Amino acid sequence: METPFIFGKIATEKNFTDREQETATLLAHFTSLINTIIISPRRWGKSSLVNKASKLALAADNKLRICHIDLFNVRNEEYFYSLLAQKVITATSSKWEEAIENAKKFFSHLVPKISIGTDPTNEISINFDWEDIRHNPDEVLDLAEKIAQEKGLKIVICIDEFQNISRFGDPDYFQKKLRSHWQQQQHVAYCLYGSKRHMMLEVFTDSSKPFYKFGNLMFLNKIETKCLMKFFDKRFSETGKHISKEARLLIVNLADNHPYYAQQLAQLSWLRTKDKCTEEIVREAHEALVEQLSLLFVTITETLTTQQICYLKALIAGEKSISSTEVMHRYNISSPTSIVRSKAALIKNDILDKLAGKISFQDPIYAYWLKTQYFAK
Ligand SMILES: Nc1ncnc2c1ncn2[C@@H]1O[C@H](COP(=O)(O)OP(=O)(O)O)[C@@H](O)[C@H]1O
Ligand SMILES: [Mg+2]
Repeated sequence: METPFIFGKIATEKNFTDREQETATLLAHFTSLINTIIISPRRWGKSSLVNKASKLALAADNKLRICHIDLFNVRNEEYFYSLLAQKVITATSSKWEEAIENAKKFFSHLVPKISIGTDPTNEISINFDWEDIRHNPDEVLDLAEKIAQEKGLKIVICIDEFQNISRFGDPDYFQKKLRSHWQQQQHVAYCLYGSKRHMMLEVFTDSSKPFYKFGNLMFLNKIETKCLMKFFDKRFSETGKHISKEARLLIVNLADNHPYYAQQLAQLSWLRTKDKCTEEIVREAHEALVEQLSLLFVTITETLTTQQICYLKALIAGEKSISSTEVMHRYNISSPTSIVRSKAALIKNDILDKLAGKISFQDPIYAYWLKTQYFAK
């Protein structure tokens, strides 16, 4: 039997809930070619949202083309250019023959090396001589605009894990180059999103950086309790099972409204349910989830310094004024500087999140594990 919840994949159709306002906004941005920047921690639903808005936008506007680029493992500029060229060409060609033709037609200085995958999708890949592209990236950066003009199209380029461009050789220079081309384009818009909040904020909100005020910033939140509650109810009943209101609320609370964990915990609870899911079943499912992740949590914790662990311990205990002498002493924290350093490193490593000055754990299950297992011993 098909299970009613999904996690770790893009949530679509009946697996997608809430986000009505964000979907409408993004849809409007896509069809009106407004640049958008989306920021949220990983697994909060950026890819799912972009996917949903893309589908709606494509259905609403037959002159629109959207391409999706993931910089997850793109480590240098040259590879970025190849990927950009390839995705733009593929998104604007209906057949691979046309793709090859376009790849030849739209470049004059660069000589693209084109190969076609042998899988049924026949996906083409485009490469350039790295020396050439390093000296002559303009053609790639303007490719979408040129194609859009020539074919009477509108193009939206979505780039995931955009913060990774700060790992490139000379990130500031690279960003300047991108911005100077992209801001001139009339028929192309960009949707840039990423999971590292601090790095994304640095790229887009620092007035000395090239991408300052490049587009509308969208901070994606977790999913609201009432939407999740309704969603669980619907998915359980659609599969011939039931879930009590208390159990639904418990899932939301244990997952701390985290979209991925909410679905995962709902799934584990659903699997344990014969007819009606109760709080007891949810608790069992939650314990199983913590157990399943504990090895990973041990590994994460092993990478932390002693001072970072002391700081986490004070946080988990709910200490309000950690920098007071008494609290620092109690948790073996060496100095206020140590707190500042630990906090910065933990935010950078995605363990903590800072929103409006408030520190929270990114992973609610990790926080629970620290509290009930690691620090309880
Ligand atoms: N709108 C949504 N409705 C329900 N679940 C969602 C939604 N968005 C995300 N999720 C859950 O979160 C998981 C991660 O979503 P994803 O879009 O890949 O996040 P991100 O791109 O931010 O890492 C999905 O697999 C799904 O379980
Ligand atoms: Mg994603």
